[in-house]
Amino acid sequence: MSTSREADVVAPSSDSPLTDAEVRRLREDFPILQTVVHGHPLVYLDSGATSQRPLAVLDAEREFATSLNAAVHRGAHTLAAEATEVFEDARATVARFIGADEGEIVWTSNATEAINLVAYAISNASLGRGGAAAEGLRLREGDEIVTTEMEHHANLIPWQELAARTGATLRVIPLDDHGALRLDVAAELIGERTRLVAFTHVSNVLGIINPVEQLVAMAHRVGALVVLDACQSAPHLPLDVRALDVDFAVLSGHKMLGPTGVGALYGRRALLEAMPPFLTGGSMITTVTTTEAEYLPPPQRFEAGTQRVSQVVALAAAIDYLTAVGMPRIAAHEAAFGARLVDGLAAIDGVRVLGAGIELPRVGLASFDVDGIHSHDVGQFLDDRGIAVRVGHHCAQPLHRRLGITSSTRASTYLYNTEAEVDAVIDGVQGAIDFFRRGA
Ligand SMILES: Cc1ncc(COP(=O)(O)O)c(C=O)c1O
Repeated sequence: MSTSREADVVAPSSDSPLTDAEVRRLREDFPILQTVVHGHPLVYLDSGATSQRPLAVLDAEREFATSLNAAVHRGAHTLAAEATEVFEDARATVARFIGADEGEIVWTSNATEAINLVAYAISNASLGRGGAAAEGLRLREGDEIVTTEMEHHANLIPWQELAARTGATLRVIPLDDHGALRLDVAAELIGERTRLVAFTHVSNVLGIINPVEQLVAMAHRVGALVVLDACQSAPHLPLDVRALDVDFAVLSGHKMLGPTGVGALYGRRALLEAMPPFLTGGSMITTVTTTEAEYLPPPQRFEAGTQRVSQVVALAAAIDYLTAVGMPRIAAHEAAFGARLVDGLAAIDGVRVLGAGIELPRVGLASFDVDGIHSHDVGQFLDDRGIAVRVGHHCAQPLHRRLGITSSTRASTYLYNTEAEVDAVIDGVQGAIDFFRRGA
């Protein structure tokens, strides 16, 4: 679905940051970036919440709806067959993008559903569902699930609920005073009782890239499964689930130039084969009687009901777009923004950048607290200048609590942002401080 216009932008073999000319050209693909807010050109720095969509993605969704729309894996007519083909091609596209096989990708509504899918499949296995094949997935009292204090609620609450349903214990890797994971404590927490370790690749608040290899090694040493929350990494960094050796990974389509309503779960083939389903109903069965049902192999076993085909097709177009620009180049472009944001904001008197003292690589995202000014007021002031940022706890209350605050302001960049936009938010924060202090 990539267009020749995209190809102009790219030099995929290179890993140098995008040039100003390339970003200018690429921005033309995103109609929403022409929006004017309160008389100012929109400065969109909220891609960590949801990213904007290029024409190629909008066109793919529309094209599907206008020429191919049909339910997939059902029906013998031409449209149904063609819709099924593009649906399965999209699965292959996602698989290639993250280094998996296509049979290892399950479509979900978002990353939250993908994590819940794993948690509910394990609790169903713990109830005896899935028979002998699922024996290895069962959790019992005394077993432990490990997650971290840094997680988005989507990668915390499903594990709290799984622990409550199975009698397992949830243990949490704490953060140090800067907000980094205490790997020394992790090494003690992850032990013989640990059955599963779930953590985020990139923090949606701190922007740091966690040391996945070390945590995977700790988990696998004791035979525990690893669930990687790749929501904030897959859109911004080259991602290879095989190289990282994780057992599951979750993605959210709307954070990687795709539409809302589609996410994906990666699961090692053997694990998906062993797992009982989460949602049940049509499209995931072979034989059904009034008393029981036999299920299809993965991935269909986990895709009950009519599927979100147009969103899946549009997500594949988004991945084609990202691939055409080049993930290493996107990563380099944003790493420069990450450093600029942290340095520029930290230099302002009264601003505390969360995680600034952590010596880990980071993506182009930074959250900060402004002394004496609520994040909602900072956000409102920036919005008056056309600058869109996220305010609040960013679905990470434990992390904020650990850092002694209840909310923060977050600026998050993507491939379409410019250095001038990064400087605009830094300048805007100084403006907010001047404005509120003057008024105080
Ligand atoms: C790190 C992380 N995990 C999980 C999620 C949940 O994604 P979704 O709401 O698309 O399910 C988000 C979204 O903000 C996130 O940033």
